[in-house]
Amino acid sequence: MWYCAGDNRPAPFYTSRLFRWASYSSSLTETLGYGFRGFAQFIPTGVGIAFPLQLSPADYSFAPDFSPRSTYCIYSNLMAEKKIIDHFDRPGGYAMPKGATVVQAQAAKAIKAAGVDGGIRLFGDAAPSHQASISQASASPRLQMDNPLTQVYVGDCRDVLPNLPAEVRGHVDLVFADPPFNWDVPYDEWEDGMPRAEYERFTYDWLDACIDVLGPRGSLWVNIPDDTAAEIVLHLKRRGLTMINWCVWHFRFGQCRNTSFIMSKVHALYFAKDPANRIWNPDEILEISDRAAIYNDKRTHEKDTNKGMRVPMDVWYGPYWGRIQGNNKERRSAHHNQIPEVYLERVIRACSNEGDLVLDPFLGSGTTCTVARELNRRSIGVEFGEGNAASAFSRIEQGPIRVKRQRSAPKSSAIAADRTPTSKKKSKAKATKSNSKAAK
Ligand SMILES: C[S@@+](CC[C@H](N)C(=O)[O-])C[C@H]1O[C@@H](n2cnc3c(N)ncnc32)[C@H](O)[C@@H]1O
Repeated sequence: MWYCAGDNRPAPFYTSRLFRWASYSSSLTETLGYGFRGFAQFIPTGVGIAFPLQLSPADYSFAPDFSPRSTYCIYSNLMAEKKIIDHFDRPGGYAMPKGATVVQAQAAKAIKAAGVDGGIRLFGDAAPSHQASISQASASPRLQMDNPLTQVYVGDCRDVLPNLPAEVRGHVDLVFADPPFNWDVPYDEWEDGMPRAEYERFTYDWLDACIDVLGPRGSLWVNIPDDTAAEIVLHLKRRGLTMINWCVWHFRFGQCRNTSFIMSKVHALYFAKDPANRIWNPDEILEISDRAAIYNDKRTHEKDTNKGMRVPMDVWYGPYWGRIQGNNKERRSAHHNQIPEVYLERVIRACSNEGDLVLDPFLGSGTTCTVARELNRRSIGVEFGEGNAASAFSRIEQGPIRVKRQRSAPKSSAIAADRTPTSKKKSKAKATKSNSKAAK
């Protein structure tokens, strides 16, 4: 059973492809009987997003032969591209004539106009909110260095952010947040295992604290796995922010499991207060397009704009984009869930300018402030664990391993190999051979 929103292709199109595993093999009555429990996974396909809605976990069966019972999948054309065309005549295609950001901005307005959080209710809403406390520790930075100003606060970000000085509150240009995922990670001091409702409430509280310090042109990025991505998106929407991108950080070295597909991604959610006036520097993050790198299409180099370069796509991977584990040079041994420097480089270059203020409410090993400082941005990091904070500060002092203020030559992230036609390749190889003979 398939529900294909906004798409008129027949179900066999999907069942014959990636989504075959999710074909519905029990009766509709059975499905309705269980009721939906929420988003289980989001699978970016490059052309849309499939939302398999997992039913009661105890009741559904998953066999590694990819024939689960009672798994329901909604496929929706959410990844829209702005197409500059007069007559849009591709119903069922993947482009949307309005453009994705326009659609999201309209959604944000509609939710605001509906009042009372747009009627969005989430599981953790009933749990009591955190009451921010003022203590000397949370009201002043524990560690700091100048030029550009870099400050590390020690404490709970839900206490620190409301106590930041007036010149900071409402003036932060970029927030990057990589919170604890509630996965029982043994952080040095933070207890990472709350009851679900409490964790959601914690999440809404720190998100609200971040929104309060963000400037009018500011962006808020959240790094979050499948479990809580949907709730964060809905919470930010009900707070009036606009989703600019739902990016995915893809890595190929994760946990191995055979009870479901192996986790190989985390969501990088990009929201802004004012989509039309946000700080956005596409030229700072350009990479070589597939058209230039694979198809050797000369026309793309001749274009006035970008000359074979483009803004990266919203699935991020490649050299130095793996998880920071093992003997990775970036690795800080005392830290868990460290994020690659290149991830922060992309976010910081794209969404802030030199001299701007970047804030990370969950500093961890210090990746955000380390990269921000190298890129000449002011930064504030908040870290609950005292030991973590000290170690992050020494990393900031040392500077990054990969990222340099002067951007290194942009590369291509193309997956496919160079497609020089075989005949051309042969004659090229011949020419190289005869040249080397001549040289001898
Ligand atoms: C996922 S890690 C961040 C990793 C970081 N992005 C990096 O690259 O190293 C989360 C960090 O947040 C800290 N933390 C947890 N709860 C916190 C809170 N309420 N306020 C501030 N920091 C907190 C933990 O101690 C941990 O170091």
